[in-house]
Amino acid sequence: MRYPRHEFVERFKFPGEHFMPPVERGTTEFLPGGYQNRPLMYVKDDGSLYEASSSEPAFIFHLAQLLNAQDGQSVLEIGCGTGWLVAVLSHLVGARGTVVGVEIQSGLARQAARNIKRFGIENAEIIEGNAFENVGQRKFDRVIVTASMYDIPSAVIDILQEGGLAILPIRSRGLPEEVHLLRKVGSCLTSETTRLCKFVAMVDPDGTTEDHFQPLDRNATYRAHCADANIERELTFDGASPKEMLWRALPFTSYLAKVDAGFRQFVVGRIGTTITSHPIFGDPSWTAFGLAYDREESLAVWHAGRVTRYGAPTAFQSFLKHYDDWCAVGKPSGFAFGLAITANGSAPHGGVAGRFREDRADVSLWWHLRPQEERL
Ligand SMILES: C[S@@+](CC[C@H](N)C(=O)[O-])C[C@H]1O[C@@H](n2cnc3c(N)ncnc32)[C@H](O)[C@@H]1O
Repeated sequence: MRYPRHEFVERFKFPGEHFMPPVERGTTEFLPGGYQNRPLMYVKDDGSLYEASSSEPAFIFHLAQLLNAQDGQSVLEIGCGTGWLVAVLSHLVGARGTVVGVEIQSGLARQAARNIKRFGIENAEIIEGNAFENVGQRKFDRVIVTASMYDIPSAVIDILQEGGLAILPIRSRGLPEEVHLLRKVGSCLTSETTRLCKFVAMVDPDGTTEDHFQPLDRNATYRAHCADANIERELTFDGASPKEMLWRALPFTSYLAKVDAGFRQFVVGRIGTTITSHPIFGDPSWTAFGLAYDREESLAVWHAGRVTRYGAPTAFQSFLKHYDDWCAVGKPSGFAFGLAITANGSAPHGGVAGRFREDRADVSLWWHLRPQEERL
């Protein structure tokens, strides 16, 4: 192997094993650990963790394959960590191609630059900086972002050559992230394929991560209306037990995230916040999710097969309408949607009919339900 992964990591911990001592390079645990198909959390010299990891290698290779970087092309990686993928890409584009890796955390950017130098890689460059801000006016044939974004900068459209490909992990309101392969056509990025993913969230220069996920117990409407929860409707997902509910409901919730930009989803239970103070959430292993229209003080919570409304009926009514629509169109999952990204305000290529628009800071996301025969 030309660029072995372990040569790019100095010490690591596995996610969820923060209490364990770090695995140091040169120890007997290092190689077998480093070659498990798991992310490796980078550890600083003082033993604390970076908010970053060397991603799961099989998935990174899969994304690199989708990116399809060709000999002589220019590639940009945002979030390059200690530079392993930069090295792999530099090999794929060959001596005539170029790779730029951008990393916001100085400790990691320094390691990446050292690693690139150590391997004598001459067609790659590491820039310490925030996302697309420090790459100047350059254009790239390929862009890959390896941290997930909610507020997608429109620079990602400008920086790509016509016909170029971008891999973007996109966060949603409280739902699992998706990584999209998008092609630039005119002033629009159009999705070619989608996968579920789990990346470290993109951070701002001041170190904050945008949090668009609101735990239920902090929701003012929920708290205000806890006592007078009313109107219920039975709503089961193929008879699943409450524990399986969240996963069974995933096709519906990811559909919901695309067709209605007005709500934010939250979950409680195993993978979210546990609420034990309210009778319906007495069993912490149960899961619930809800639909919140914060401005309208309206909340619908789906738990154990029933939808309950808190506050104004708006969220409750929308929830049921979306559920009925979803059934009527054949219960598609979020993967049945195509995505187009444009700079805010401009319409996507091919018109806007049947598209659901979601405005984020800098760009608009236009989702459309693909015809049955084109679904993934
Ligand atoms: C999951 S790690 C990926 C590391 C490496 N690309 C890999 O796949 O092994 C995500 C990286 O993105 C970096 N990152 C987060 N926000 C960033 C930003 N605004 N600009 C540049 N890099 C950022 C993190 O510091 C972290 O190193």
